Amino acid sequence: MATQPRLGINVDHVATVRNARGGAAPDPVRAALLAIEAGADGITAHLREDRRHIRDDDMARLKLEISKPLNFEMAATDEMVRIALGVMPHAACLVPEKREERTTEGGLDVVGGFETLRPSVGRLREAGIRVSMFIEPDEAALRASVALGAPVVELHTGTYCEAVVHGDAAKAASEFERIRSAARIGTALGLEVHAGHGIDFATGETLAGIPEIVEFNIGHFLVGEAIFVGFAESVRLMKVALAAGRARAS
Ligand code: PXP
Repeated sequence: MATQPRLGINVDHVATVRNARGGAAPDPVRAALLAIEAGADGITAHLREDRRHIRDDDMARLKLEISKPLNFEMAATDEMVRIALGVMPHAACLVPEKREERTTEGGLDVVGGFETLRPSVGRLREAGIRVSMFIEPDEAALRASVALGAPVVELHTGTYCEAVVHGDAAKAASEFERIRSAARIGTALGLEVHAGHGIDFATGETLAGIPEIVEFNIGHFLVGEAIFVGFAESVRLMKVALAAGRARAS
């Protein structure tokens, strides 16, 4: 039987709803604990430079209160590296960040930004934090991630998921192939391959058919789905979707 993919739940948008009113509810840490009870294998949170959703004390509380691995999404800046070294999460996923974007819009430019990224990767690794590079599914980015010494890559699935949502079958098929090929090449290069961004139940199930992807990180759709079925149920249903997709891969 194929190995089940791990599911990391991104709780950023629980904090988005909280911050809309400036109070303490809903609490992203409570959501993380509920997600774990419902079967999540880890929790992801992105401390953005502008703190628009997750805040410094959320990150500290997540580290203290959850029993599963914490994946700290961050830009490769001195400030974020310093905070990550204070929190000491299980993993740090380096992402590109632009202040004006609504969400992370693409993978890191690991090739062009190689020298800029090198010190951040080095400091996190030296501290024993597992570093993941959020990249486009292409071979040059995979090879640059290996050269930087990152043990993990997370493939950006946003373009594929958007093509599916917009009914662009040709683009969806070619993007899926890019992800499948990158997952194979990355694994052959010795990287652990994760995937994330824009995933819903249908795209999660399809992507789980790629056996080399060992972890999915999913947030926005599940927080939205929680409005209709509850957060625990939305996490549980995603586990079911991923398991169904993975069963077809075996
Ligand atoms: N992985 C990374 C690296 C991300 O930046 C995000 C969005 O913050 C996600 C996964 C989760 O994406 P979504 O919220 O669209 O499921």
